[in-house]
Amino acid sequence: MKVVIPAAGLGTRFLPATKSMPKEMLPVVGRPVIQYVVEEAVAGGADDIIIVTGRGKRSLEDHFDHNPDLGAWNSQPALQRLETLIETATIHFVRQRNPLGLAQAVLCAQQHVGQEPFGVLLGDSIYECEPPVLRQLRSAVDRWAPGGSAIALEVVPEDRVDHYGIVGGTQLSPTAIRVQQLVEKPRPQDAPSRLALTGAYWLSPRIFDCIRATPPGRRNEVELTDALQRLADQEPVIGVVIEGRRFDTGTPLLWFETNLRFGLRDPEYRAALERVLGEGPPVGPTSPPSHE
Ligand code: UTP
Repeated sequence: MKVVIPAAGLGTRFLPATKSMPKEMLPVVGRPVIQYVVEEAVAGGADDIIIVTGRGKRSLEDHFDHNPDLGAWNSQPALQRLETLIETATIHFVRQRNPLGLAQAVLCAQQHVGQEPFGVLLGDSIYECEPPVLRQLRSAVDRWAPGGSAIALEVVPEDRVDHYGIVGGTQLSPTAIRVQQLVEKPRPQDAPSRLALTGAYWLSPRIFDCIRATPPGRRNEVELTDALQRLADQEPVIGVVIEGRRFDTGTPLLWFETNLRFGLRDPEYRAALERVLGEGPPVGPTSPPSHE
């Protein structure tokens, strides 16, 4: 099963940190975000992963390659975990020559994907789902729209709908709808629902024609949301309110929040972080001495 991971964006909301470093390589409690994404793809059944990269993104390729310079460090459990991942799925890289939007990044993978349905996970979003998010999407397609597509949704507060792609459609079950309408960042009064796209997709290969037929929108980028509207006009697209959570790491605040949440449940960091958050005494030997 193939999964495309677009990771070629400029990360402008995270400048200057992302000036020369991909935001997908920022760490969340010791692992880069992209590793979580690849792990989620593999948990969802992927054995063939295409990461879409661009200028300045070489470190993504290096992360999923062997590094003989590390010598004995390579047998560390954390690196062994990564080795296992690299051996479980084949990881390919394709370049997006200009960051002309998410839809265009997906289009870069067309030749590799061919004529089969495929998954898409964003390179800067971590899912914590059981079953894994792509399995949830595929189950929905098998049940309601064999051969069709599915998109992962979450319920957002009404005053936040203008930050997301929002969908409307016919209810199929308490957690699934047949999508008829997709609107990018609507005003609350125009939003068809509070169901927002989260950035995980199971797509029929007809999406490629839809992307090609979609004119660029704001910022001269083709919006995947607009291409999905075209697809939904032609064939079934199922929206699934996912069981689980998605952590967007695309801005400093969101990244920081994700690190805190993951850190607070990590046995190695929890106690120290609680002390910091309670404004307790310094936690490490490198902290400066107290002036009291
Ligand atoms: P974002 O819109 O969050 O990424 O896309 P961005 O464009 O890098 O962010 P800002 O708005 O400038 O801060 C979600 C995912 O899609 C990839 C990004 O790398 C990210 O992982 N993407 C986005 C591409 O691969 N190509 C693009 O042209 C745009």
